[in-house]
Amino acid sequence: MLIADEVASINQFYMSQTIEHRCDLLIIGSGAAGMTLALTMAEHCNVIVLSKSDINEGSTLYAQGGIAAVFDDDDSIDDHIRDTLTAGAGICDEAVVRYTAEHAKSSMNWLINKGVPFDRETDGNGKQRFHLTKEGGHSHRRILHAADATGEAVQKTLSEDLSRHPNIHVFESYNAIDLIKTKKTANKCIGAYVWNRKKSDVEVIRSKFVALATGGASKVYQYTSNPDIASGDGIAMAWRAGCEVANMEFNQFHPTCLFHPEAGNFLITEALRGEGAFLCHRDGTPFMQTFDERGDLAPRDVVARAIDFEMKRLGEDSMFLDISHKPSDFIVKHFPNIYRKCRSLGIDITRSPIPVVPAAHYTCGGVKTDLDGRTNLENVYAIGEVAYTGLHGANRMASNSLLECVVFARASATHILSQLHTPHDPFEVRPWDESRVIDSDEEVVIQHNWHELRLFMWDYVGIVRTTKRLERAKRRIALLRQEIDEYYSNFKVSHNMLELRNLVCIAQLIVTCALQRKESRGLHYNIDYPNLLPESGPTVICKSTHNKYINE
Ligand code: FAD
Ligand code: SIN
Repeated sequence: MLIADEVASINQFYMSQTIEHRCDLLIIGSGAAGMTLALTMAEHCNVIVLSKSDINEGSTLYAQGGIAAVFDDDDSIDDHIRDTLTAGAGICDEAVVRYTAEHAKSSMNWLINKGVPFDRETDGNGKQRFHLTKEGGHSHRRILHAADATGEAVQKTLSEDLSRHPNIHVFESYNAIDLIKTKKTANKCIGAYVWNRKKSDVEVIRSKFVALATGGASKVYQYTSNPDIASGDGIAMAWRAGCEVANMEFNQFHPTCLFHPEAGNFLITEALRGEGAFLCHRDGTPFMQTFDERGDLAPRDVVARAIDFEMKRLGEDSMFLDISHKPSDFIVKHFPNIYRKCRSLGIDITRSPIPVVPAAHYTCGGVKTDLDGRTNLENVYAIGEVAYTGLHGANRMASNSLLECVVFARASATHILSQLHTPHDPFEVRPWDESRVIDSDEEVVIQHNWHELRLFMWDYVGIVRTTKRLERAKRRIALLRQEIDEYYSNFKVSHNMLELRNLVCIAQLIVTCALQRKESRGLHYNIDYPNLLPESGPTVICKSTHNKYINE
């Protein structure tokens, strides 16, 4: 346990006239995790779902490869467990891995019943079955998918259902700012302060239960596969409110993001390698076999480091991924989205290799929860990428993430349901007061800090680390924190300011955890500690042993 030196900055003072909403369950986030929880609970109570952007925008929408679950008779739950534990490099929580693998099929059946159109094929006897693809670390074909746009199929199917449900109220363009704790019940949360972006007003949402489903934090890095919303807000909010956070040093870098000046954050799914694509140099020479006997389907940490190593060794801007040896119609049928995107940039993947680079992709650490998705703060749950359940350990296996979203949203729903009879807390929440803050006149400060933070995180806290670079990052973060906290105290909140305040907190958590881990394991590779320690567990950190009341 670490007592961090951070103090929650409570900049704003409180006055009347703040709009107050009430519900039984406030879900912050409308991705796979948030929507699964909302749809499972809506029969029983009144739910508000918050989205920072429009309802569909989040990592879920962009997921490509698919969702892991044992559907093939030759596969087994024990094999799914073993593969997950191997990818996790020795520090997965085995009970959690078992729970997830055992609940995978029922969770996928829930999605299928909701109407998610996973690809099907006809077997040798003329019967329909799901087409299963393969990705790194999996010893079997185990991935349900909807071509190469699985996330979109999940997101849009669930969000249509969500928007029709009379008990679910969706608040779009709302940023949750902080969780509200009461003075009288120190370790209890009774809602959240939220910023209505369209009106530029802070409002209060009172709720019996709050579920953080805010996704990951990969936007703390300069290069990322993630959409803009991935600024770690839920982890930062939970941390400020006194929740335990774990394993933040394990940020996953996806090996293959499209390298093109006009590509934006575009992923090239690992399923390409599952279907025969191989990584190579510019001249077509394959190289993965020299790094790992599992070759192109080694776990992600191994492949990302190999690409990084080859790029630096050869002084190249990218490596290449080649699937052009496969028949064109096979490529276009299985990867229509990638085919179209690359084609629009002048790359015909049926004929030539795709330039690829690693980019920050997934936050393996997060808010520590139990098997019911509960955090150590009463009434607060964390589900999906925001959470650290213990499933991924030091490296997440491909396609286990959407699975975790659905499995743990359903587990949390069961627990919340058992507590639903508890009444609302009677305590008053002080309204938000902006009487001592003014409109920002120096947006340039935010922009500058934003770029600086993400760049040094990429350079100093990236795929390969050293203690010196981590220390350097720590000093920079301390300076930035000071500036950002000061800014937050003096100016009215804005979207960029709220995200930056959270990102600097995330950077601090990553560096704190990384400095504590005196070994190289999974996604955390430190040249100064290249070996594995025989005894090692998660890096659990906690802000403070005594409570802070953010509405005081
Ligand atoms: P998200 O889907 O990211 O949703 C987060 C939600 O929280 C959004 O609605 C956002 O607006 C909201 N939010 C955030 N902060 C706030 C705030 N302060 N206030 C209000 N709302 C907020 N995983 C797999 O298993 N299989 C795959 O094939 C796969 N492919 C991927 C491809 C890409 C390109 C990416 C980026 C990820 C992929 N992943 C994949 C990972 C997986 O998609 C994510 O881990 C998962 O979708 C996270 O879901 P979530 O519900 O936790 O969060
Ligand atoms: C991919 O399709 O390669 C991404 C899968 C994942 O992140 O789980």
